Amino acid sequence: MNPNDLIMAARDAARYASAPYSQFPVGAAVQASDGAVYQGCNIESTSYGLTICAERVALFSTIAAGQRPQQIAVTCLKGDPNQPDSLMPCGACRQVMLDQMGPEAAVHVDGVGEFTVAELMPRGFRLP
Ligand code: THU
Repeated sequence: MNPNDLIMAARDAARYASAPYSQFPVGAAVQASDGAVYQGCNIESTSYGLTICAERVALFSTIAAGQRPQQIAVTCLKGDPNQPDSLMPCGACRQVMLDQMGPEAAVHVDGVGEFTVAELMPRGFRLP
């Protein structure tokens, strides 16, 4: 799949972000092994620590549908939708990307560029 299409799907998902505390709407989109796209947005909680990032929502939706995530796009639409704020995935999401996609998978960060999981998570934890 064209990375740009995946970024567009991430932008679409950011519209559903529930981010009343941070006002920081994030969207993610995963291309899965069946070719389908699974979207995610960040969802914040009144108990702040229960907040979950857009990337993990998209990755977990993919897993829960019985598919394997192959690549992911992420965006933040805080300002102008045509000028995405740069956002790099947090450490927790990088670990889950490594767990679920492996080190070679592509991570497309809207307005920033394309990385492998290994570039974002060098020497990351994996079970021996
Ligand atoms: N957030 C994400 O959804 N993905 C990231 O990679 C970093 C942060 C969310 C969590 C929280 O709802 C808001 O952005 C501000 O941290």
